[in-house]
Amino acid sequence: MKARILVADEIAASGIALLEAHPAVEVTVKTGLSPAQLRAELPHYSGLIVRSSTRVTAELLEAAPALKVIGRAGIGVDNIDVEAATRRGIVVMNTPEGNTNTAAEHTISLLLALSRHIPQATAAVKAGRWERHRFLGVEVVNKVLGVIGLGRIGSLVARKAQGLGMVTVAYDPFISSEAANKLGVELLELPALLERADYISVHTPLTAETYHLLGRDQFKHVRPGVRIINCARGGIIDEAALYEALLNGTVAGAALDVFEQEPPPPDHPLLQLDTVICTPHLGAQTGEAQERVAIGIAEQMLDFFVRGQIRNAVNMPSIDAESYQALQPYMTLAEKLGAFRMQLLEGGLTEITVSYSGTVTAYDTKPLTIAVLRGILGHFLGPQVNYVNAPLLAKERGIRVVERQLHDSEDYASLVEVEIVTERQRGSVAGTLFGKSDPRIVRIDHFPIEAIPSGHMLVFSNRDLPGVIGRIGTILGNAQINIAGFHLGRLAPGGLAVCVVNVDSPIPAEVLAAIRALPNLVYAKTVTL
Ligand code: NAD
Ligand code: MLT
Repeated sequence: MKARILVADEIAASGIALLEAHPAVEVTVKTGLSPAQLRAELPHYSGLIVRSSTRVTAELLEAAPALKVIGRAGIGVDNIDVEAATRRGIVVMNTPEGNTNTAAEHTISLLLALSRHIPQATAAVKAGRWERHRFLGVEVVNKVLGVIGLGRIGSLVARKAQGLGMVTVAYDPFISSEAANKLGVELLELPALLERADYISVHTPLTAETYHLLGRDQFKHVRPGVRIINCARGGIIDEAALYEALLNGTVAGAALDVFEQEPPPPDHPLLQLDTVICTPHLGAQTGEAQERVAIGIAEQMLDFFVRGQIRNAVNMPSIDAESYQALQPYMTLAEKLGAFRMQLLEGGLTEITVSYSGTVTAYDTKPLTIAVLRGILGHFLGPQVNYVNAPLLAKERGIRVVERQLHDSEDYASLVEVEIVTERQRGSVAGTLFGKSDPRIVRIDHFPIEAIPSGHMLVFSNRDLPGVIGRIGTILGNAQINIAGFHLGRLAPGGLAVCVVNVDSPIPAEVLAAIRALPNLVYAKTVTL
């Protein structure tokens, strides 16, 4: 069946054409829908593409039971309730690189336009006024540009500003001084940046932490006559505080591409000031950037639906094509190990430790740990658990998840070991791949074994005495249950042993009860993978 994708905001035609050309997907473009119309439309789709106009709320997602992926053609995902999507197991992906240069160029355009009053002067000339004396500007050379948020766009803005001869400083608590220095940027705390900057340009995402990052308190400490640029997100700057600072002259001018409410109402106080210049969220609006983000999100959608690959997801680790090829069989193994060991345990789950050793450690193992979680939690919570929501579901249940990289693998090229602790028990299982993709369990607790984790299984531990295995074979045979594989592991003759029996059909409860009643059995459980 074709995957149905709804494009709800305008994106470049090249992206739509790419989707239309693929036989595995069916694309529908319906832009400008009201929330109610979108709610009525969405149940039919497994993919949704938006830019920044459509608000993807928790309420909207409730009406989208089939939705698997939301693609944002652009960077900011603040118009999407990512937490609600994650809870529902929906992948949210963006195109983080596609408009970086365009946004940085727009920032520099605003910086220069603000310094030389370009929009006001244009308006005056067009109105028949030749007011050269009125538009006395300032040079930017040797001025200090304070960048708040030294990420992709912030760094590029800094580099471009250096090209104009500006001195660049930045505030970004998540970047090291060393990384900033490499960019020729001096990293400062926010108060020091406010004190030094002649221009301040914000380039953070809009989050609870960055909301009103520049507000009344900060404007009290800025260098008088500072100029402010916001080409990131409305809400990072407190608009009321900015208005006051512009009125009292603390801030000489502001260039705004984004607003808390878009479009801003015509009577918005900031729009009444001659010291404010603005554009209607044009930061990413070049033909080149729109082409890149549209093609980018279309390719990512196709990767998702056709090849099962996830790129640029903001709510789960992304895997590039090469790593995906290598990790895919390990993901199957990891999920099976989690599901297998959990089915042998009882009691509330408290802790999961996943250890990796050998060549698998060359890759990002986070997706494998998520696969283990999916295997384990899927046992309790069913098919609603997927790679997106498994970590959140574990966190919500207070389950501690530990990932370890051991590098040295004793006997295997690669080994994945899962240890599970419940309120009543603890158990581990280790597995590897035979050949390139054949999952094998090679240890259950301390017992070395070589078992195939597949289908219906009987797993038991017994005292290693003659007759136990024969009796179990007889009980299964009498119940018409065919044995497909038999794998035994023991530490020493006469001690304890573990056995995994692959069978061709499910083992009914009464057959399991008969097996459990046999002498010398420590435990017997059925496992289905
Ligand atoms: P990015 O993730 O590469 O960089 C963001 C930076 O902000 C990171 O380095 C992060 O460490 C920093 N940061 C986070 N919280 C911070 C805080 N409290 N204080 C200081 N720094 C903090 O993102 P990007 O691609 O550079 O995009 C930056 C912003 O630009 C986003 O909000 C994005 O939505 C916006 N954007 C707007 C337009 C537009 O059309 N106007 C176009 C593209 C991007
Ligand atoms: C973004 O975050 O990418 C921008 O808001 C650009 C856009 O989609 O208009």
